[in-house]
Amino acid sequence: MNTFYKEKYRPQYHYSPRINWLNDPNGLIWHNGIFHMYYQYNPLGSQWDNMSWGHATSNDLVFWKEHDVAIHMTKHMIFSGTTAIDVDNDSGLCHNEKGVVAMYTSFEYERDKDDNIKAIAQHQSLAVSTDDGYTYKHYKGNPVLDIMSTEFRDPKIFKYQDNWVMLVSLADQHKIAFYQSEDLKNWKEVSQFGNIGDTNSVWECPDLFPLQIGETTKWILTLSAGHPQGNGYYAMQYFIGQFDGKRFTTDDLYYPRYLDFGKDFYAGITYANTKSEDYVIMMAWLGCHSYTKDTPTTTWRGAMSLPRELRLKEINNQLHLVGQVSDVVLDKLTEVCYTNSLINVQDKFDIPFESRSFYVEFEISKPSTFAGVEVLSDDSHKTIIGYISEKHEVFMDRTNSGNVSFNPQFPSMETAPLISASETLNFKIYVDHSVVEVFVNNGEIMITDRVFPLKEASKITLFSNECTTAFRKVSVRTLKSIW
Ligand code: FRU
Repeated sequence: MNTFYKEKYRPQYHYSPRINWLNDPNGLIWHNGIFHMYYQYNPLGSQWDNMSWGHATSNDLVFWKEHDVAIHMTKHMIFSGTTAIDVDNDSGLCHNEKGVVAMYTSFEYERDKDDNIKAIAQHQSLAVSTDDGYTYKHYKGNPVLDIMSTEFRDPKIFKYQDNWVMLVSLADQHKIAFYQSEDLKNWKEVSQFGNIGDTNSVWECPDLFPLQIGETTKWILTLSAGHPQGNGYYAMQYFIGQFDGKRFTTDDLYYPRYLDFGKDFYAGITYANTKSEDYVIMMAWLGCHSYTKDTPTTTWRGAMSLPRELRLKEINNQLHLVGQVSDVVLDKLTEVCYTNSLINVQDKFDIPFESRSFYVEFEISKPSTFAGVEVLSDDSHKTIIGYISEKHEVFMDRTNSGNVSFNPQFPSMETAPLISASETLNFKIYVDHSVVEVFVNNGEIMITDRVFPLKEASKITLFSNECTTAFRKVSVRTLKSIW
C-alpha cells in the first residue's frame, strides 16, 4: 500500500487526491472503456484556491489512478463544467475520434492586499483534448459565452439531436439558463428555468439527463443549492419533467425535493456517455463550503462519493429519484463477511469484529421507540444511524462522532422523512474512516456525512432503545483498500 494513503481519516475505498484540496467532480465521462473523473483541484495547497481540473481514471469506478492536472489554470481559475465527445467535429477543433471537449467556467478575479479573492467575471470557456482526455488545450477564442456576470457558472453540455445544449447556472437569481449552439463556440439563449424549489442559497452545478421508467421517458434536472435545515448547509435538489431541446418544464409535483439529506453530498453530476437508459451514475463532492476548509486533515482535503446509480421509482403514486451504490463496489472489495438472519436486540448487540472500512446491511420492522446501528464507536464517541418512530424519520447523528469542534456548524443531526408507508426498513450503510453513506429502503432516502472519529473507533453495534427489535438479514462486510 502506498504510504500516502495511510493518513488518519483517509477513506480507503472512496477517491481522494494524494495531496491537496479537492471539491466538485467535473467532466465525468466514459470514453473508450475508461471512466474519467476530473475535479476541482488546487495543485498548490490543501485549501480552496488556484482552481484547476485534477484528473483520475478507472476501469470499474472502484480502483482509481490519479493523473497530472488535466486543465491548468491560466490567469483565470478553471471552475466546474462538463465534457463531451465531439463525434462529428462540430467545433472544428477535434480532428480525430480522440477529441474530447471540456466546457468550464473561467473565473476572472483579482486579489486584494490581504490576498482575498475578488470576483471580476465568470464566463464559459472551451478546452479540447486530442489524446483521449489526458491533456487539454484552451481554445484561443475563449471565453465562448460571457454575459458580464460574477454569478454565471458550471456549464453542462450535451448534444440533443443536431444541436449542442448548454445549461449554465445564474447562481444568485436561482435560475438555470439554457443555450443552444451548432459549433460549441457560438451560443444563443433559448430559455430559463428557476425560482422554484429551494432558493435559499446560490444555485450551482446543474445537470440534465433523461431517465426511462417503463415506457415513459422523463427528464431530470439536478442542481446543488439549499438544504432542508437551511442555516448555511448545502444539499442537492432535483426536478422531474420534460425537455424539448430548448426548454425544461417540470411535472406538477411538490418541490423542493432533496437528493440526499446529509451535509456532505454536493455538486454531484452524472457520467456522460454511459449507455444505460433507466439509470445514471452520479458522483458528488463529500464536502460543504461552510466547514470543509476546517476539517482535520493536513496534506490533503476532500473526497468523492461512491458511484451512485440514480433511477426513477414510483412511490405513493409519485415519481421519485432513488439511489444505490453500484454493485461492483461490494463485488470487488468484500473481504470478511458476517451474516446473521435474525438478531433480536434489546439494548445493544456488538458485531463480533471491528472495522472502520466496511458495509453493513439489515432490515428492521419499525421499532416502537428508536433503533439502528452505531458505527465508528469507542467508549465515548459514535456516529448513530437509525429510525425514530415518534418522528417517523430516519436519522444520522454526528454530534458526538469524535472531533466535531473544528467548526461550530459541523456537529449536526440529519433527519429525513420516509416516503413509503412500508412497515419494514432496509438499511445499507457504507462506512469508510471519515465517510458515512446511508441508503434506506432501496435508496428512497439517502444521507451522506463526513465524520472524524478521535481514536481508532471501530466498534459496530446494533441498538434498540427501550424495546426489542428484530434485526433481519444482517450482513457486515469489511472492505479492502483501493490504494
Ligand atoms: C460548487 C462550486 C461551483 C464552482 C466551484 C468552484 O462547489 O462553488 O459553483 O464552479 O465550486 O470551485
